[in-house]
Amino acid sequence: MLFVANWKMYGSASQLLAYCERLLPQLEQCPHTVVLCPPYPLLAQAVMLCAGSGAAVGAQNCHWAREGAFTGEVSPFLLAETGASWVIVGHSERRQLFGESDDTAAARAQAAQEAGLNVVFCVGETLAQRQAGETFAVLEKQTALLGKLDPERLVVAYEPVWAIGTGHNATPEQVAEAHAFILGRLEGLTGQGVPVLYGGSVKPQNAGELLSTPGVAGALVGGASLDAASFYAIMQAAPATGAKG
Ligand code: 13P
Repeated sequence: MLFVANWKMYGSASQLLAYCERLLPQLEQCPHTVVLCPPYPLLAQAVMLCAGSGAAVGAQNCHWAREGAFTGEVSPFLLAETGASWVIVGHSERRQLFGESDDTAAARAQAAQEAGLNVVFCVGETLAQRQAGETFAVLEKQTALLGKLDPERLVVAYEPVWAIGTGHNATPEQVAEAHAFILGRLEGLTGQGVPVLYGGSVKPQNAGELLSTPGVAGALVGGASLDAASFYAIMQAAPATGAKG
C-alpha cells in the first residue's frame, strides 16, 4: 500500500529531524511505500534524511510552468531538482482557500509529470454536495482531465472535504462506493487501473477498517502524519497483502 504524509503548513527543521530518526528505521521492515510531504523549505532536508531509507519525498503543490514571473509559486522542475519525487495536486484546501480549479489542478499535474514527478491528485465532495446527491457528479467533473496524464505516475486520493481535519471519517460504505466510482472512471479515461488512496481523518483507530475497504490502495494522512508513531501505527493497521506498493 501507499502512505502519504501531508504535513500541510506544519513542522520545522528540528521536528523533521526527530521524526525521521524515529520513523525511518522502522520502515526497513515495512512492506509499504511511504512518501513524506513537508512544506517546501524542508524538502531538501527531507531528501537528505530519507536517502537510503524506504521513504520518498513529495511537495504539496507545484505550478504548471517550468519558470516565469509567478511570484510565490514553485516550478515542478525545481522540485524535481531537490530530489523530491512526488507532488500532491488539487488538494481541497488549495481549491477552497486559494481558488484552484479542475483546469489548473490538471495543468499542474501534467507539468509535474513532465518534470518526472509522481502525482497524488486529490478529489472529493463537500458536505453540501454530498447532501444534494452530487457526489458522483463532482467526482466525474474533478477527474475529467486526468486522461491527459500518464497513469503509471498517477495516484488519485479521495478526500471528502467534510472528513478533512474534522475527526469525522467517511464510513467504509461511503469509501467503497466512491473508490469504485473513481476506479471505474480512471480505467475508462486512462485504459488502466490507477491506485486510489483515502484521505480524511485517518488515524490509527480507524485505519484498519478504512484500509480493508475494497478499492483502497493506501492513505493520504494529514494531522495524524505529523507524529511518527501514529503515522507508523496507521501503516501497521493495513491488511497484510505482502505486496510493496
Ligand atoms: P486530516 O488527516 O488531518 O483529516 O487531513 C487529511 C488531508 O487533507 C490529507 O491531505
